[in-house]
Amino acid sequence: MQKLIINGGRRLGGEIKVQGAKNSALPILAGCVLAGEKVKLYNIPELSDVFAALRILSCLGVRCTYENGCVTADPTVIESVCVPDALMREMRSSIVFLGAVLARTGECRLTFPGGCELGPRPIDMHIRALRQLGVSITEKYGELICSCPHGVKGTVINLPFPSVGATENIMLCASMAEGETVINNAAREPEIEDLAGFLRTIGAKVRVSPSGTVRIKGVKTLHGGEYTVMPDRICAATFMAAAAAAGGEITLKGTVPSHLNAVTEVFEQAGCLVADSEDKIFLSAKKPLRAVREIQTLPYPAFPTDAQAPIMAMLTKAEGTSVITENIFTSRFRHVDELARMGADISTEGRTAVIRGVKKLYGAKVMAPDLRGGAALVCAALAAEGETTVTNIKLIDRGYENIEKTLTELGADIRREKS
Ligand code: EPU
Repeated sequence: MQKLIINGGRRLGGEIKVQGAKNSALPILAGCVLAGEKVKLYNIPELSDVFAALRILSCLGVRCTYENGCVTADPTVIESVCVPDALMREMRSSIVFLGAVLARTGECRLTFPGGCELGPRPIDMHIRALRQLGVSITEKYGELICSCPHGVKGTVINLPFPSVGATENIMLCASMAEGETVINNAAREPEIEDLAGFLRTIGAKVRVSPSGTVRIKGVKTLHGGEYTVMPDRICAATFMAAAAAAGGEITLKGTVPSHLNAVTEVFEQAGCLVADSEDKIFLSAKKPLRAVREIQTLPYPAFPTDAQAPIMAMLTKAEGTSVITENIFTSRFRHVDELARMGADISTEGRTAVIRGVKKLYGAKVMAPDLRGGAALVCAALAAEGETTVTNIKLIDRGYENIEKTLTELGADIRREKS
């Protein structure tokens, strides 16, 4: 068990490179199953979730190596169609292996996925869509037994909600289907275009329209290729929130500024100066922060649910009252009680949190409730007076590559210790 010890009150400054996107890397790693030849992936972040995905690939018979952000995967021979329960439980993204394994082999056996506790996270949309593609799915003692005896057949799928994971699963499964698949009301998150970019690299015919339609013309075989994963927009938002909360001036390089438009607007309302050029974002927080207009988390291009917790941490010290409504997950305010231990004044009612800015936060002993909630506690700790200990940091390690190293580069006083 490890913990982070943070001595708050230091302004942040300097330039860092933002890591590759976890939520792109994971479905793209699943997509390696589709390739008939070697795949090389760059900018893969060194995260526990990535290593879980590599273990799933190994179980399937895909030989993988990871070195300095580069994954080499050789999926020439798929030896197994089963994903063990222990690996399924490690993360939510394990479910996107279903579409890929089915497309490549015609069958797959796995159990329900794990992931952060953010309220119920069913996979009904995934299952319904795969059935529409001709997959037979039966559940026995918690195991999903899936096969497509007559092959995957392209069709029109109208998603009731633009689910990111369901869109990815359909794209993976439909890449080798007979005929064309159209996904209406598909997710529009940048990670969807990144997955499409990877699939095109290995020979798939996928088009993503900005209006939320994805078209996939199935092909018989896919080949190998090399692909660089996009930068992590949520990590960028987190480090911006950290600098805004603690004060200071930071530059993030290796970003796509337009992916952060909805988030940038909130920093500007709070009184920060944000500028960008090419792949760099500059944030300056010199004045005390002020409260912002109501934030509603919604599918992209609106404000992302994954940035909700870090932004809330930043708003705890903003002058005035801010309101955040969480529309994507039913239980994504578990960081609120932990922030309260540090002196934050937040009340919640259902999906809405009311944050009344306080003059000071104080160091405390807190526990990461989930990945982004844990990152929020780190942001608050950097802005707090005194020492904060954050435990349960394995959840933070799922999404942030060596977070203490990155923040130390920005001048923070933060270290990792064994509990
Ligand atoms: N949903 C259903 N049925 C389904 C699928 C989803 O009801 O079959 C519901 C979910 O319960 C949730 C909503 O739809 O309430 C959105 O779920 P979605 O499928 O879009 O999310 P996801 O694919 O499970 C990904 C990210 C999450 C991110 C969400 C929303 C990955 C690995 N995870 O999850 O990232 O919050 O999209 O943008 O890509 C994180 O990185 O901390 C994280 C949780």
